[in-house]
Amino acid sequence: MKNLLTTLSMALCAALLLTSCQEATDTQRDADNGPNAQAVADNNEIYTLPDLAYDYDALEPHIDAKTMEIHHSRHHQAYINNFNDAIAGTPLENMSLEEIMKNISEHSMTVRNNGGGHYNHALFWEVMSPDGGGEPEGDLAAAIDEAFGSLENFKEEFHRHGMTQFGSGWAWLIVDENGDLKVTQTPNQDNPLMDVVPDDERGTPILGVDVWEHGYYLHYQNRRGDYINAFWNVVNWDAVSEKYQQALAS
Ligand SMILES: [Fe+2]
Repeated sequence: MKNLLTTLSMALCAALLLTSCQEATDTQRDADNGPNAQAVADNNEIYTLPDLAYDYDALEPHIDAKTMEIHHSRHHQAYINNFNDAIAGTPLENMSLEEIMKNISEHSMTVRNNGGGHYNHALFWEVMSPDGGGEPEGDLAAAIDEAFGSLENFKEEFHRHGMTQFGSGWAWLIVDENGDLKVTQTPNQDNPLMDVVPDDERGTPILGVDVWEHGYYLHYQNRRGDYINAFWNVVNWDAVSEKYQQALAS
């Protein structure tokens, strides 16, 4: 009997130790994945997680279902929760997201990181589609040719900006204040609307690729270039064209 109790107590200790280790690992993983990657319940529902227009597995094999699920339901949700908590009860509650972005230097880093996180991811989901890929048409195709010489040249420049963004961030296709197209990059969750971005890199983003490791590491590990190459297969050029026309009209 004494031996049985000793065995049971040792098993219990081992189980507690394993649980403790797992929690520590989870905490470290969330810390690695960005601010509060573990989504939590939020009571300030000023902004809510936008539904995707497609299923989590719809972009496979280019972007895997697990990455999409975690990226959307945990990372994006966490940015929204933190952003809502930061602006609740402040004048920012009544400002548009774009207005907050354009005057981001006046706000806290919490607002910058999480408001940017919400804006950037909402755009990212919209410019992808299981029916994506191919080539742009019409005015956007002509503007890309004019700005970059060819679609291939544009893709190379966009790819280079995604690859050279050190650490976490984004590569963008923007419409600048003159209505011209440019490729830019921003660190962390900054974006080209923000007034902290250099003047010649500011504009309205119409296409963006998330080069945070949480966007590709499960499937591509450290092969960011393969992920960006695969991204072209799911780009929703119709949505990008629509954003281009809206940017020109604004
Ligand atoms: Fe992301």
